[in-house]
Amino acid sequence: MNTKALLAIIVLAAMAGGIYAMRPTAPQTAPVDAVSAAPAVGDAIVSVTVPELSPLAQIGATGFANVCARCHGDNAAGREGAGPPLVHQIYVRGHHGDAAFHNAVANGVPAHHWPFGNMPPQSGLTTADVDAIVIYVRELQRANGIL
Ligand code: HEC
Repeated sequence: MNTKALLAIIVLAAMAGGIYAMRPTAPQTAPVDAVSAAPAVGDAIVSVTVPELSPLAQIGATGFANVCARCHGDNAAGREGAGPPLVHQIYVRGHHGDAAFHNAVANGVPAHHWPFGNMPPQSGLTTADVDAIVIYVRELQRANGIL
């Protein structure tokens, strides 16, 4: 092997080494300040964009704010320490149909998806009230890509 060929091999090997050294590694996560980053009880769990609501959804929004929001958060965004966001892929219509909402309100929900404990039955709402709440939650879901 002549010197030129040998040099070429060395240069190629060095380049390959360089490329290997520059390979993408696991994304570096920014250092997190544990105190400010820790979610506090009462915080929203997801961020929710509120669309322009239909008249029925506006009625549902009032019922939701009065009865459900203390656990499920404002705009159904969840509440740390209290309850899950309903604007969440788990609650997409195909998985939790409208009947699941009526059932949750009438009978409560045993804890199974989340660490918040059981949902107690909610009194004081008519079927029409819950229908409006479901319409409201579905409009929020759609506006946030949960279809
Ligand atoms: C006292 C707190 C609390 C209140 C008030 C409350 N919920 Fe819940 N809800 C929960 C918790 C906690 C869960 C999650 C249970 C699990 O899956 O771990 C839940 C789950 C649900 C589910 C999912 C049911 C399923 O089949 O998994 C629906 C739907 C729901 N809630 C609707 C409502 C609506 C509508 C209201 C208001 C009328 C309401 N909730 C009020 C705490 C609450």
